[in-house]
Amino acid sequence: MCGIVGVVSSKEINEKLFNGLSNLEYRGYDSVGMCFINNKNFKIKKGVGKLEEVHKKVNFLRLQGNVGIGHCRWSTHGGVTKKNAHPHVDCKNKISVVHNGIIENYSELKDELIRQGHKFYSQTDTEVIAHLIEDNLKDSRIEDAVKLALNKIEGSYALGILFADAPEKLFAARNESPLIIGVGGNENFIASDVPSILSYTNKIIYLEDKEIAVLTKDKVKIFDLNGVNKNKKIHAINWSAEAAQKSGYKHFMLKEIYEQPRAIADTLNERIRNSDVVFEKEFNLKNDFLRKISRIVVVACGTSWHAALVGKFMLEELAKIPTEVEYASEFRYRHPLLDNNTLFIAISQSGETADTIAALKEAKKYGVKTLSICNVMGSSITRISDGVIYTRAGPEIGVASTKAFTTQLAVLYLLTILLAKLRKTLNEKQVKVMIEGIRKIPLQLQSVLDEDYEILKCADLYYHKLNSIYLGRGVNFPIALEGALKLKEVSYIHAEGYPAAEMKHGPIALIDKNMPVVVIAPHDIYTYKKVLGNIEEVKARGGIIIAIATDNDDNIPKKSKHTIFIPKTLYTLSSILAVVPLQLLAYHIADKLGYDVDKPRNLSKTVTVE
Ligand code: M6R
Repeated sequence: MCGIVGVVSSKEINEKLFNGLSNLEYRGYDSVGMCFINNKNFKIKKGVGKLEEVHKKVNFLRLQGNVGIGHCRWSTHGGVTKKNAHPHVDCKNKISVVHNGIIENYSELKDELIRQGHKFYSQTDTEVIAHLIEDNLKDSRIEDAVKLALNKIEGSYALGILFADAPEKLFAARNESPLIIGVGGNENFIASDVPSILSYTNKIIYLEDKEIAVLTKDKVKIFDLNGVNKNKKIHAINWSAEAAQKSGYKHFMLKEIYEQPRAIADTLNERIRNSDVVFEKEFNLKNDFLRKISRIVVVACGTSWHAALVGKFMLEELAKIPTEVEYASEFRYRHPLLDNNTLFIAISQSGETADTIAALKEAKKYGVKTLSICNVMGSSITRISDGVIYTRAGPEIGVASTKAFTTQLAVLYLLTILLAKLRKTLNEKQVKVMIEGIRKIPLQLQSVLDEDYEILKCADLYYHKLNSIYLGRGVNFPIALEGALKLKEVSYIHAEGYPAAEMKHGPIALIDKNMPVVVIAPHDIYTYKKVLGNIEEVKARGGIIIAIATDNDDNIPKKSKHTIFIPKTLYTLSSILAVVPLQLLAYHIADKLGYDVDKPRNLSKTVTVE
């Protein structure tokens, strides 16, 4: 939930550390801090607020040196105060720590350390780490002291640690919180994610749980908590540094919405061969197994959970496999019924969501085959699961997920085709129609984006409303949930998504002339006529209807105040097109309200704590 970055170099590092931290701000932005080593002393600057705000007060770029760590905080333990901002130090100001995660036994450790005479100044769990290492340093060398301290810690951590008396070294460690090492020329990095340091290196080492790294400018040494040295592979990442920049857009969210035609095209690229779907070798699941699956269980959180709901519709409707969708946070504490014929799927943009990782680990205990659908190469869930399908959205920086969602839908659609073919639930002709359908999506998405001016008009009219309702049915019910989530996240307007017919069972009481009601109503053979009826029900009560309809639909504009058109496509694929106007609506409303769209209050891009 926080971002950490560190650099050790032969050159001045202040800009690199500052830029790295600025790229990580989406992970937490209630306070920020940096620590450099100068002449065996720490120079620390920190404060409450976003990086730019604090920078204006303290000028981080005045810090100078060749070794440093930085942190942007999303608070868990202890209020948002300067004292609680990271880095945290020990009693003698010789050990400086930045941390992402939660130390679960911090309270017991703190009591014990206080009994031994340590003085604490903050309410954070992190400060305990600095004192614990200090305590172990009494009788051990630095590396051993770190190892001994981490052996006493329970919980999750990604750590950057500096020792004033070892000014040429940067220590790092991880357990259940993301941390990567960037290998540069005469300099090395640690960071919470790859894009934050991509301008400096694309050579990445993934630190595993319970591993410690010692970085100098020209060497990276890694060992585990028992002191056993590890030989780690260096991965070359093919994301470009530019992909992680705003490229002239006002916000990352807008840029990422507009990138969706490209993101979907990349996600499909080389995966469709004639009428076959072919995933890369990381997919790793055998056809024999895929033919005999009797059930699929999908877990995810937030937007990825909405993608899972759309996936359920596709998998049951077309591949005829019973599919259950669960919140990862609920699944992890159940005793699920899983057997050898169950396929377990975890969906996550980041691959680092704590609940999704825990649910995946729980499923693995039952010996089921696991597959992850993920956007970040080498992230935790991709390393834990048996197989992986990568979405190729590119780095998603905006806290509100957009292009990751539509690429997840594209992957679920391809997986459905693969399973339907293997299990012969669709004939060749039907498969061909499905493939033609998805091939058109990138261009069709572009035409949806071209309607942005219509959506902006709606935003202009309704940005001051306090509530809104989103309705959809079938495959588009999850799109109603997603549209409502997008609006809530970035504009702080209360929004609820419902299955359109369910509205009669209560929510209809909320509808009056002040209530915008967004209805997803593409033309289909399933529920189109029923949705028309639902629109009438809203209209009769004075609700302001904003409809998403298929091109050339004459009925809907007659009944709605505003109609946003999407191109004609297959029913299952209408979800990919229909969500885009809802993303744009949320974006424009938040922007009109003057909010920091990429960093909405209280949120963090990757929820690495429970
Ligand atoms: O990285 P993940 O897909 O696992 O993240 C899951 C949710 O935290 C995420 O989708 C969240 O709901 C987004 N902020 C939604 O826009």
